[in-house]
Parts: sequence; structure tokens; C-alpha cells
Amino acid sequence: MVEVAQHLKGRDFVRIGTWNSEELKAALDLADELKELRKRREPHELLPGRTLGMIFQKPSTRTRVSFEVGILELGGYGLYLSAGDLQLGRGETIKDTAHVLERYLDAVMIRTFAQDDVEQLAEHAEIPVINGLTDYAHPCQALGDLMTIRERLGRLSGARLAYLGDGNNVCVSLMVGAARFGMRFVAATPEGYEPDANAVMAARRAAVQMGGTVELTRDAGEAAREADVLYTDVWTSMGQEEESEQRRKDLAGFHIDDELLSHASPDAIVLHCLPAHYGEEITEEVLYGPQSAVWDQAENRLHAQKALLALIVS
Ligand code: CP
Ligand code: NVA
Repeated sequence: MVEVAQHLKGRDFVRIGTWNSEELKAALDLADELKELRKRREPHELLPGRTLGMIFQKPSTRTRVSFEVGILELGGYGLYLSAGDLQLGRGETIKDTAHVLERYLDAVMIRTFAQDDVEQLAEHAEIPVINGLTDYAHPCQALGDLMTIRERLGRLSGARLAYLGDGNNVCVSLMVGAARFGMRFVAATPEGYEPDANAVMAARRAAVQMGGTVELTRDAGEAAREADVLYTDVWTSMGQEEESEQRRKDLAGFHIDDELLSHASPDAIVLHCLPAHYGEEITEEVLYGPQSAVWDQAENRLHAQKALLALIVS
């Protein structure tokens, strides 16, 4: 049976920056091991009988299915909880919800709008709380992304990652995660679409310690130059649908197509957290092209989150 470190039991995963480099590396290493065990169809029921509540206030394909399958494969059970069907949707406070859920569940994952709601849930619940995406951050995605990059490139430190498009939740978590591993991160965004300024400062501090860099630019071609990883995400995130027309105008040009790919390293991989909007942030040709690693990336959510659960759930 695989060895699981005990020192992270009980920890929350609400922002990637709350975990240090060694802690994140422990998750990535365990994720690789669990991926191998699963491939060999060897049992790894590290959390027998444990329950994971999964609160969703926004739609999901990957996060929902990978968490549900993940806890099942670890020997536990996942409960899908639609926020609209919970009393939370009728005004029960997050604090009260936290105190109730901790009496039933061993861990809770939440996908919602405000980052503060996740932080509050984590503050009040005794059980580990996992951020399954907020308007601000998507740390589970970043964990799977780092796993994918390390798997494909054989390293993280020193690798150049260019993010193109909206400096959104996915960008913020990826930037901080990349900095934790000494990557050379650059985000190319139009004015007004930069990643959160506090997150940029925190990422820069982390990058300095680890020998990496965090840059912002308005020049997509320049960002892509010699990149080992090209990454993009939707121009209009969940909850921003009314802005989609404006965003299409503002973000035009901050996308991944064959032309942009030609600026990157010849061995560069292309990542996208999915779902994709073809003709906006990426072309279908690139997403299905030889340099795309998006299906491995989607799969790795499963392994990364299983590792996370195995590390933090008691
Ligand atoms: N990438 C991601 O989180 O996808 P879902 O919205 O389908 O969960
Ligand atoms: N930035 C996107 C990610 C979806 C997984 C959104 O928030 O909708």
C-alpha cells in the first residue's frame, strides 16, 4: 500500500498559496503514484468509508466527475450537493452550514462565486475544505496543471509558461502555483484583464525564493516566445455572461492559434482547463493538434485531487 504523509491531515485547500512548495510537491508526488496504481488496477483505498460533500453553485463537468470518482476509488463516498437545494440557497449562513456539515462529513468541496465564502466555510468547519473554483481562484485546477507540466516536461523549475487571455481565477492559481516551483511565468492580457495585483505580488515573492519569475505583458507573441507551455482559458467565465460581447472585443488577439504556437519552443505543450470556446481563446486545430496535452490535463485532475484528499482527510 502507498505511504501517505500524515502532517497535512486536517488542512484546507482554499488557495494554492496557503501550501508551501514542499507540501505541494508531496501532493504531486502522491498523485503520480496514485496514477500508476490506477493504471495497474491496484487497489488504493486510502480513505475507506470517508464522506466528501461537494457543494456546487455553478455548473461543472470535470470537477464534479473527478471528485466523485476520486473519492469512490479511495474507498469513500461523495455527495453531490446543489447549492440551490441546500438551505444555504434560502439564507442559512455559511457558519451554520459549516457546523452542521462537519457533523456528517469528513471533508467538503465547494464551487461558488465569492472566495470569501470558501474562506468562511474553512474558518468555521473543523473538517478540511477544498476550493472547487471561485471567481478568484481554482487551486485544484492548478494542482492538476502542475502535475501535467511536470509529467510532460520532466521538470517545473525553470520552465517557461505563457498564459494568454483573461487573468482570471485559473490564471491566478496557476501563476501562484508556478511561482512556488520556480517556473518562469508570463501572462499576456489586455489592459484591465491582468491577474489580481495582490496575487501577482505574492507570486513574485514566491518566485524570487524559488529562482523563478512572474511577468505581465500586453504582447501575446512576445509572451509565447520560446515558451515550454502555452496556456489559455475562456474569455468569459461563469457569472460574467453579460460581459461576453465586450470581452470578445477586448480579448481579441489574446488566443492560441497555429501562428502563436510557432513562437513557442518546438516541443511546447498546449494546456486549457476546459471547457473551450473555439474561435475565441483557442482554435479547435490547436486543441486537437499534436502539441495539445489537454486530455491528460483533464485526467490529471482526478489523480491530483485523489492525492489531495488522501493527504488532508483523516
Ligand atoms: N476545468 C474545470 O474545472 O472544469 P469544470 O467546470 O467542468 O469542472
Ligand atoms: N475561468 C473559468 C473556468 C472554468 C473551469 C470559469 O470560471 O468559468
